[in-house]
Amino acid sequence: MTPQPTETREPAAILSTRERGTWSVTAPTILTPSKRSSDNAAAGTVKTLFDRPRWIEPCHLYDERGSLLFEELCELPEYYPTRTEAAILERESGTLMNLAPVECIVELGAGFSKKTIHLLKALTRARGRGTFAPVDVSATALMASKRMAEELFPELAFTGLEARFEDAITSITRDIPKLVVFLGSTIGNFAPTDMLHFFTHLCDHMGPDDYLLLGVDRIKDPEIIERAYDDSRGVTAAFILNAFSNVNRITGAGFQPDKISYRSGYNRERQQVEMYGVSTETHRVEFPRHSASFTWEKDEGILVETSRKFDPDDLQVQLRCFGLENLGHWTDSNEWFSLLLFRRSAPSGGLESR
Ligand code: AVI
Repeated sequence: MTPQPTETREPAAILSTRERGTWSVTAPTILTPSKRSSDNAAAGTVKTLFDRPRWIEPCHLYDERGSLLFEELCELPEYYPTRTEAAILERESGTLMNLAPVECIVELGAGFSKKTIHLLKALTRARGRGTFAPVDVSATALMASKRMAEELFPELAFTGLEARFEDAITSITRDIPKLVVFLGSTIGNFAPTDMLHFFTHLCDHMGPDDYLLLGVDRIKDPEIIERAYDDSRGVTAAFILNAFSNVNRITGAGFQPDKISYRSGYNRERQQVEMYGVSTETHRVEFPRHSASFTWEKDEGILVETSRKFDPDDLQVQLRCFGLENLGHWTDSNEWFSLLLFRRSAPSGGLESR
């Protein structure tokens, strides 16, 4: 089926007509769900800190400072994923846009959308028009993405969605054929069950002419991975530990930055990097708004983020169960990172053997 022209200058056109009323405009061409219960978010955050082992939801990494630190760490010599993925995108974006003949790109977890420039170039070259809709919880990141798109791609309509993935996926219209782009191996930051829920939800909401482009970091020499997550300049440490300051701000908690250090390591069995804030001395952490506190023992870690690494062939088999048919797989000469393109097909109902 030939996709219909989809470009529109009306920002809310990216949302289904049923959902439009539940979103508000926060800045020109930036929309956010109207109902955001920060009280519930605070209560949810406190709950994870009383779980054992204690943990923090990784979305708390991306406040304004965290978003800037993340951009900084992407440029570090040790952090290979960004430049490796960017080089694959630069090389393959033309092919990708031919295989996915759409006029709309929705980018989940867009950040500053620097790597997406290659896809947007290919989109404008191939179609001369279209829509770019980045999704991110960070307003800072969306504003940067908007500035980039308006400067480099004035022919594209821009709608930023300041939202969690789930809210955006629920609300985006199925009527516009689109390429959903999920880069940077952000899928690796999901716990396994969250990853399954994410793909179930995404596939339930993908239309028949939608495509998915997924960037995944591959299993490789653990030393290379460990260096990428414990850089010599301490940017990753600052990025991870910033989550505690953000939790203080959201919940009124009393984490003391001078009593927290960073620890990370590659868990070979789970094929993931684990990143912790560790208490440097036994002390109490207070949550006055919740009339609660706990003793944080010296050397006890609070898990802030995991970053899972993938075998792209296994992942393709797994995603087939969600009705995602693989159309292409591109990698770099070291085979450190993979880009996978999928189209929604009817679910097969079971695993086929490879
Ligand atoms: C966003 N995400 C894919 C990054 C990663 O590599 O897991 C986050 C990150 N954490 C520390 N360094 C980078």
